[in-house]
Amino acid sequence: MMMEEQQQTPATVAQFIHERNTNPSREGEAVALRPEGSVYMGNFAAEPIETVRVAIIGLSERGIPQTLQFASIPHCRVVGLCDLQPSAAEEAAAELERRSGVRPQVYGGSSESYLEMLRELKPDAVFINTSWETHAVMAVACMEHGAHAFVEVPLATTLEGLWQIVDASERTRRHCMMLENVNYGRVELMFLNMVRRGLVGEPVHAEAAYIHDLRSRMLTDAAAGNNWRTCHFAARNGNLYPTHGLGPVAQYMSLARTDDTFESIVSMSSLSLGRAAFVQRELPEEHPWQNLDFRCGDVNTSIIRTRAGRTILVQWDETTPRPYNRKNMIAGTLGVLAGFPTRVAGEQLSPPPAPTDDSCGGSSGEDCCQWYMGPEAEADLFARYEHPLYARLGDENARNGGMDFIMLSRVIECLHRGEPLDQNVYEGAFWSAVAPLSEMSVSQGGAPQPFPDFTRGDWKHTPPLGIVP
Ligand SMILES: NC(=O)c1ccc[n+]([C@@H]2O[C@H](COP(=O)([O-])OP(=O)(O)OC[C@H]3O[C@@H](n4cnc5c(N)ncnc54)[C@H](O)[C@@H]3O)[C@@H](O)[C@H]2O)c1
Repeated sequence: MMMEEQQQTPATVAQFIHERNTNPSREGEAVALRPEGSVYMGNFAAEPIETVRVAIIGLSERGIPQTLQFASIPHCRVVGLCDLQPSAAEEAAAELERRSGVRPQVYGGSSESYLEMLRELKPDAVFINTSWETHAVMAVACMEHGAHAFVEVPLATTLEGLWQIVDASERTRRHCMMLENVNYGRVELMFLNMVRRGLVGEPVHAEAAYIHDLRSRMLTDAAAGNNWRTCHFAARNGNLYPTHGLGPVAQYMSLARTDDTFESIVSMSSLSLGRAAFVQRELPEEHPWQNLDFRCGDVNTSIIRTRAGRTILVQWDETTPRPYNRKNMIAGTLGVLAGFPTRVAGEQLSPPPAPTDDSCGGSSGEDCCQWYMGPEAEADLFARYEHPLYARLGDENARNGGMDFIMLSRVIECLHRGEPLDQNVYEGAFWSAVAPLSEMSVSQGGAPQPFPDFTRGDWKHTPPLGIVP
C-alpha cells in the first residue's frame, strides 16, 4: 500500500501536537532488526542522474529563495512547485522562468496537492520547506514515489516520525537528507578542515547553540494568520530547534561515523516568560494568542554525552533579547576553535602575523599570541585554512553568507555524479532527535534519555566525512 493511503498530512497543527504529546513513542523499544530487503543507507550512492528534475513543496520565507537558487546551479531543472497557496507557487514559477527560461508546473490549493505533483511529474528530488509537523509524512511520500527527499530543519519532531523516515529511506533506497545549511557556513567549513588536519587533536567537548531573538516573527505570523511556530512554542517544552548549532560540531566529531555516536542527553528549560510578555505588549487585546499558555522555557540548555564520553552543550533561545550566537565551539587535546566571534587557540597553530591591537581581549603573555579575534585576524585564518569547498563555491555576499548555495550545489553535484551525500539520513535523525528527547528529559526533571540507534549498529561502518574538494 502506498504511504499516502496510510497517513495524511495533519489537518491542524494543534491536532498534530496533541497526538504527538499523547501517543507513545518508540523510545525504549528494543531496536527492531532491519526488515528484509531494506539496506543501510550510511554511505549510500544512488545511480547518477544527468539532469536532476527538482520539485519543491512550500514556497514562503524559506522555499522561495531556495527555489530561485536552482536557476544558477548546473545539472538540474525545477519541474514543479507546490504550496497550499497556489499564488505563492505561481509567483515563484514566474520569477524562476524569468531567471532560467523554464517555467515549472504549479500545484496547490490542498494539503494533499503535493501527492498529485509526485504522481504526475515523478521528480528525482523533492525539497520540503513546510511547517515542522508535515515533514515526516511528506518525506516518506516522496521516497515512496521514487524521489530523493531533502527536508528543511528539523527532519521531524517525533522519534516515531524519525524512524518512519529512516525505515522509508532504507526500504526505498532513496536518500533523505535534512538540509542543515549551517554545515556549509564559511567558518564551519574552515573549522571542519582544521579538525580534519589534526589541529584540534582528539575532540573532547563541543558547544553549540541557536540563539536568535525571533519574537518579532510572531508579529509577521500573526498578521499572516500563520500559527504553526507559535503552536509549537505554546504546547512543547524543550530544545525545539537544535540542528543549526549541533550539525556542524557533530560532524567535527564524526558522530555516527565509525568511532563514536550519540548516547544520551540531559536537558533543562528556564522559566517561560518572554513570549507571553511580548504577545501581551505587541498584539491587540482580542488576539487569540493572548490566551495561550506558553509552556516552552525561554532558554533551553541540553548536554549530550557520546558513547566514547565526549560532551556537547546545545543551547536554544529564540526569545530573550540577546545577540545572535551559534557558539560553534570544539575543544580537543591540541586546540580549541570557537565562533561568535571566531577565536582559535592551539599548540599547533602559529600566531597571526602581528597582534596589532588589543584584540586579545585583555589576556597577556604566551597565550595571547595563540588567539585570533576580529576581522583582520579572521581573514588571516581564512587565508591559511579556507575549506576547498568554500573556495570553489562560496560567496559571502550571497544569502546566509553563501551557505545555502553551497549546500544546494553539493546536493545536485552528488546526485549528478552518483556519490554519497555529505549528510546521511541517520545524521539528520540524530540531530533532530534532540528536540523530542530534550522534551522528555525536561518533563522528568532533567533525567538522562538514551538516543535511539537509528543506524541499528551500522554507524561503525560509515566513514567520517572527509575534506570535500
Ligand atoms: N535552514 C534555515 O536557515 C531555515 C530558515 C528558515 C526556516 N527554515 C525551515 O524551513 C521550513 C519552513 O519555514 P518557513 O519560515 O518558510 O515557514 P512558512 O510558514 O513561512 O512557510 C511554509 C510554507 O509551506 C506551505 N505549506 C504548508 N503545508 C503545506 C502542504 N501540505 N502543501 C503545500 N504547502 C504547504 C505554507 O503554505 C507556506 O507557504 C521550516 O522547517 C523551518 O524550520 C530553515
